[in-house]
Amino acid sequence: MAFQIVGTGRAVPEYILTNEEVSKLVDTTDEWIKTRTGINSRFVSTHETITDLAAAAGKKALEKAGLDATDLDLIICSTVMAEHASPSLSCLVQKELGAKCPAFDINAACSGFVYGLDIADAYISMGKANTVLMVGAEVMTRHVDWTDRASCVLFGDGAGAVVLQKGDGLKAIHLTAKGDDKLLSIGNTFCKSPFGRQPVLDPHFKMNGGEVFKFAVGAGLKDVKTVMSKAGITSDDIKMVIPHQANLRIFQVIKDKLGLSEDQVASGIDHYGNTSSASIPLMLDELIEQGRLVPGDIIVMTAFGGGLTSGACVIKL
Ligand code: ACO
Repeated sequence: MAFQIVGTGRAVPEYILTNEEVSKLVDTTDEWIKTRTGINSRFVSTHETITDLAAAAGKKALEKAGLDATDLDLIICSTVMAEHASPSLSCLVQKELGAKCPAFDINAACSGFVYGLDIADAYISMGKANTVLMVGAEVMTRHVDWTDRASCVLFGDGAGAVVLQKGDGLKAIHLTAKGDDKLLSIGNTFCKSPFGRQPVLDPHFKMNGGEVFKFAVGAGLKDVKTVMSKAGITSDDIKMVIPHQANLRIFQVIKDKLGLSEDQVASGIDHYGNTSSASIPLMLDELIEQGRLVPGDIIVMTAFGGGLTSGACVIKL
């Protein structure tokens, strides 16, 4: 375990889409969305690109760390879909920031930020990097079918970033994957080819909400217990659990089963919605900015989503 978080940053689009406005697009109500998910509003990109958001979050994280982009040894961006298949989002962030280091993207859907932390830890542990920028950036509102009320109400856009340097902040980390394209998927688009049949995949987000809910609760609880045991901590040691912001009801199950208080579970789903792999770093930066998390606090991050993937970690700030 090799890193310490030395800076955090976040960026969201300007436009705030309320439940009231969503209910003018599809057959839903503010009441349904609030009670089933905890969401009141979400940020939706209009003119901002995913690169704008990722680079802005990265820049703020570097500023808070008191570092320059040229100090970076590696940039990792987690996203389900960048603007281009190539160049990667990370390369475009590197260009925007004026960094000189290697850069690559990863895709582990909503678990991508925790997966990225594990990779960063390996690089720093091996001595291959001293300073790593890890960004979770998503524009999920571009991947939903805005006529499907079951999914379009859930998502928002944004980016969160952390700068990591050698240290002993990471106490435990655990990842899982269970390949499945039935419960949750977003199709890719391909160019036409004269050779063979090409897969025709729906580019819209598709989810069996009920089954994914069960997976999320089960995986989240199991992963958190695993990392708490690895780190040798109890619920009393935890200042806050930051769950992937998918559904308020998932947080409530995690809270009750782990015997945590309301204050020990971070929730920003009311104003962010589900921002996939951006959700944990967005929350982390907000909580640090509000002074609700301070150096020395022990936090647990838990994420779950498409793949199906999941991951959790214990970090001392
Ligand atoms: N407004 C009004 N009614 C709706 C809406 C809506 N927006 N959406 C669905 N309904 C209706 C359904 O049609 C259904 O009606 P019926 O009973 O007449 O058939 C009823 O509401 C119940 O629908 P469910 O899908 O059973 O609702 P549920 O309580 O399961 O909530 C939700 C749906 C919010 C999606 C929930 O299942 C959930 O949060 N799942 C987990 C999501 C998650 O964890 N995602 C993480 C991964 S996301 C990622 O990786 C990018």
